[in-house]
Amino acid sequence: MVAWPLTVVSLLVASAAIMNGGGGGEQAQPIVPAVISFGDSTIDVGNNNYVPGAVFKADYAPYGQDFLRHEATGRFSDGKIVTDITAETLGFQSYAPPYLSPQASGKNLLIGANFASAASSYYDDTAAMYDAITLTQQLKYYKEYQSKLAAVAGHAKARAILADALYVVSTGTGDFLQNYYHNASLSRRYNVDQYCDLLVGIFSGFADELYRLGARRIGVTSMPPLGCLPASIRLYGEGRGACVPRLNRDAETFNEKLNATVKALRQQHADLKFAIFDIYTPLRELAQDPVAYGFANARDTCCRTGTAKTRVYLCNPTTAGACRNASSYVFFDAVHPSEAANVFMAESMIEAGIELVT
Ligand SMILES: *[C@@H]1O[C@H](CO)[C@@H](O)[C@H](O)[C@H]1NC(C)=O
Ligand SMILES: *[C@@H]1O[C@H](CO)[C@@H](O)[C@H](O)[C@H]1NC(C)=O
Ligand SMILES: *[C@@H]1O[C@H](CO)[C@@H](O)[C@H](O)[C@H]1NC(C)=O
Repeated sequence: MVAWPLTVVSLLVASAAIMNGGGGGEQAQPIVPAVISFGDSTIDVGNNNYVPGAVFKADYAPYGQDFLRHEATGRFSDGKIVTDITAETLGFQSYAPPYLSPQASGKNLLIGANFASAASSYYDDTAAMYDAITLTQQLKYYKEYQSKLAAVAGHAKARAILADALYVVSTGTGDFLQNYYHNASLSRRYNVDQYCDLLVGIFSGFADELYRLGARRIGVTSMPPLGCLPASIRLYGEGRGACVPRLNRDAETFNEKLNATVKALRQQHADLKFAIFDIYTPLRELAQDPVAYGFANARDTCCRTGTAKTRVYLCNPTTAGACRNASSYVFFDAVHPSEAANVFMAESMIEAGIELVT
């Protein structure tokens, strides 16, 4: 059941290649010209490596141990993250560069750019607490990218690339885990329902602005099952070693509001294709019944995490220990899935994404 969307997309890739005059040794053209990403550590591909003060970085082993050249790139996983897998499925031979890296220049900009920053969030205040790149700043960088792209491709071609590109927004976990759940002044000011309204309102404004700037295909990830992340179980699980229902309900509250907002945005803009990439459902299934999906463990983290402020969430850089086989773990560190779990989630994302790219 989860396998057919990949097949459908492969067929689309094949037919796109034929329409582009494939054969003759030419490379197949991807279905969309570019992938442009915004958000947090779930899709950061290395921007935080270029932010000196950033608290969250994945620039050390064992991050990247199963990636190209077995090197840490800034991706928070042992290998590929969900957007890497999506890009491959769409027919890309390489990944859009992190915007702050030296690679983000010249022709490399033609296939998109990645503006995401670990510990970023919908609420700029959350990102600022960890010296991450706020969503507001990511949008400023995107505007700068537009001019750079026009310089490389010419104005008309740049406009076409920007209109046909796939835009992915993936963030929000930090607004709860790194802010709301341990910030008394914030939780006094807003109950969960009001806080979700605030976050979804920020998202809605962000999406409107992207549309105004030329985006026509936008996908947003849902909030993951916050209560099933190993860090949450450790911090809020009261020693039960199971998913924390209260936190999962908060994620569901957010996701319902996100659904309503996306529906409203679709109605406002007839020429905007908009999909929700539901990561809540597949990740919760994996977390609750890993064995049914070929995983051995969904409670422990593959790498050894630490105790200090950020190390509760991340792999411990001083004891670079990792499990023998990351593919048998749902979670690589205490908040981020392994590549194997990302592959599983990407399949359900692609199913929702087909309507965006056809
Ligand atoms: C609480 O949240 C507010 C608003 O996000 C933020 O400005 C403040 O720094 C936070 N305080 C703590 C102690 O985390
Ligand atoms: C949001 O909408 C999708 C379909 O677009 C649905 O599958 C999902 O269950 C909805 N989620 C919530 C929390 O309502
Ligand atoms: C790693 O784990 C996966 C999933 O449990 C399994 O399919 C694979 O064979 C394992 N690889 C090794 C080298 O043990």
